[in-house]
Amino acid sequence: MAGRLDGKVAVITGASSGIGEATAKTFVDEGAYVVLGDIQNDLGLAVAESLGSKASYFFCDVTKEEQVENLLSEGVKITGKLDIMMNNAGIVGARAPIDQILLAEFQRTLEVLVAGSFLGIKYAAAKMKPQESGSIINMASTAGLSGGFGPHAYAAAKHAIVGLTRNTAAELCRYGIRVNCIAPSGVVTPLAAQAHLGDFMAMDEIKGTLAENSPLKGRAGTAEDVANAALFLASDESGYTNGHCLTVDAGFTSGSKSNDPQHMVNVPFMREAGKTGLED
Ligand SMILES: NC(=O)c1ccc[n+]([C@@H]2O[C@H](COP(=O)([O-])OP(=O)(O)OC[C@H]3O[C@@H](n4cnc5c(N)ncnc54)[C@H](O)[C@@H]3O)[C@@H](O)[C@H]2O)c1
Repeated sequence: MAGRLDGKVAVITGASSGIGEATAKTFVDEGAYVVLGDIQNDLGLAVAESLGSKASYFFCDVTKEEQVENLLSEGVKITGKLDIMMNNAGIVGARAPIDQILLAEFQRTLEVLVAGSFLGIKYAAAKMKPQESGSIINMASTAGLSGGFGPHAYAAAKHAIVGLTRNTAAELCRYGIRVNCIAPSGVVTPLAAQAHLGDFMAMDEIKGTLAENSPLKGRAGTAEDVANAALFLASDESGYTNGHCLTVDAGFTSGSKSNDPQHMVNVPFMREAGKTGLED
């Protein structure tokens, strides 16, 4: 079913790589014009070029207010309106035991992830309010829904993004603007390779690691899985969905566990049919 975003204009931050790149491609395939923003110029320009006449790339560091404002203005300049804003840019950030994290690294992580999303929402809202329509999509994580899914600063930032999504959804709904977020577990991108293996180039290895640990047997999550969730939230099909956090996590946060038989044996209520699991 192509054409689900026909005539719409989207801005995506962090669009040079991974989830942002996959989402830009999906949105263009579905009929949207996409403005890509990132700090990796060569990659971003190449992605935009590969998407043809329905995409353009601009340098945008999401921690710089004037650059975020400019990026959104470019979107509106090209097409006269803004339908979709996806605040996706991200880093793993500070990674250390809590008693060893440097304040500057903690603050930098929150600056990119939280302040970057805040600025994207702020300027998207300013463009969308007069139109009385729009869909804002923020990138959260399973690390923003539960403890133990990521480093401390990253988890704090992603929890903040879920909160910011809900609060801005409550304010902006009166203008016809919806704000939702997506919470993926590990999906195969350079960021995941960096987070889990310390090497952003280790794409084959991270695919294997994520597939092995997935609750869905042998199935690693992909950037395209997340792009498809973003497509739903961007399209009119989600017209009554607001303030929602859509997980793309193979069930991790709803209780599904890693596809490891050893693990299942250790879950008491799954031992034998007909037994409650509380007998011993
Ligand atoms: N890959 C995963 O496992 C996973 C899981 C949950 C959430 N996420 C989130 O998805 C988003 C995209 O990550 P990804 O996995 O595609 O990683 P990625 O590294 O492939 O892409 C992230 C992009 O963000 C850009 N970026 C970083 N700092 C920026 C800044 N200051 N301004 C503008 N752009 C900047 C990078 O240059 C890069 O192109 C992030 O917010 C991440 O936290 C990823």
